[in-house]
Amino acid sequence: MIPLCVPEISGNEWRYIKECLDTNWVSSVGSYVDLFEEKFRAYIQSKAAVVTMNGTAAITLALQTLGISRGDEVIVPSMTFIASVNPIKYVGAEPVFVDITPDTWVMDVNKVEELITERTKAIIPVHLYGNMVDMEPLMQIAQKYRLYVIEDATEALGAEYRLKDGTWHKAGTLGHVGAFSFNGNKLITTGAGGMLITNNKEWGERAKYLSNQTKTILANGGFYHEEVGYNYRMPNILAAMGVAQLERIDEYIEKKLQHAALYNNLLRDIQGIQLPTQKENVKHVQWLYCILVNESYGLSRDALIQKLKDHGIMSRPFFESIHTMPPYIGNKKGSMDVTNQITKKGINLPSSVGLTVDEIKIVCKCIQGWVYEKENSCNNGNKS
Ligand SMILES: Cc1ncc(COP(=O)(O)O)c(C=O)c1O
Repeated sequence: MIPLCVPEISGNEWRYIKECLDTNWVSSVGSYVDLFEEKFRAYIQSKAAVVTMNGTAAITLALQTLGISRGDEVIVPSMTFIASVNPIKYVGAEPVFVDITPDTWVMDVNKVEELITERTKAIIPVHLYGNMVDMEPLMQIAQKYRLYVIEDATEALGAEYRLKDGTWHKAGTLGHVGAFSFNGNKLITTGAGGMLITNNKEWGERAKYLSNQTKTILANGGFYHEEVGYNYRMPNILAAMGVAQLERIDEYIEKKLQHAALYNNLLRDIQGIQLPTQKENVKHVQWLYCILVNESYGLSRDALIQKLKDHGIMSRPFFESIHTMPPYIGNKKGSMDVTNQITKKGINLPSSVGLTVDEIKIVCKCIQGWVYEKENSCNNGNKS
């Protein structure tokens, strides 16, 4: 089986985790927790970084830090993993769904303004599959209406965006707060994990405080809690793995880009297969390599997924629209024309860092194979 996206664990992970076990520093306090936050902050170029148990917690913490609460509305794309949306509900606010663009498959910034009401408090652009939302015009809208922007950068660690002044910025650092995930399939993994980043030191301190049960240590060593807090902390063992993974990030991204370039070359000329696009002001990290299966391919998207599976190749359809799921059916939304089409056509292809050239050739041959089968069956039909 060629898996969809499995971790690459071949660096210092064992050594750093063993050190935690050998020294008994296994829980939520330890040098690797601080080191992971510091190294991540330095990599991403933000002023603060707060490590969390997962990406969902990082997004929830971002909303809590910015004071989003009951009665507020938050604009978010419908085509995303549900963890971009559920945290809005956790804090008592309501998601309002916005469409995506037909070429980048991420939030259509041109459709955001029409959804803003006096209840809107924040926007969550999701940098899906390693691509990025058009952040500069989005931040202009946010500034005009005094809204917060929380970047869901869980799938786009290392992606970059160029502002009109020519400077490049990493995904997560252009909004007010950014959230990352280190789930098993993500660019770097700690098994489960997340990170909140921000360029506002006060928000960073508030996020850390909320994530640690608002714990203050009294002069006598006792604990004091000024308000209701949460336990979103990551244990030292996982942070140790994060430090080891982060050491390899440039190499991982380079591999993903090489894989995407090879996929593009091999799939380019297949009728009905649409390749991912990249805007010239975005450095896409190709976290999951994606294609669209158009009607002219002659085989449905789901039939292609089954065909790949029959050949031992794992793939996955694009995320289903969240506005069609029971908890969110009644929620406000804009036109979903593009979302409704793209969710039915998209496929994620195998994208592990450790994928080999031969494996990519096998996947592409299988996709190409259908065209030969189709042509041969037509030719046979003509002969008879
Ligand atoms: C777009 C998106 N948002 C949020 C999350 C939540 O991350 P986690 O699974 O670490 O909670 C994920 C990943 O799973 C994701 O893909």
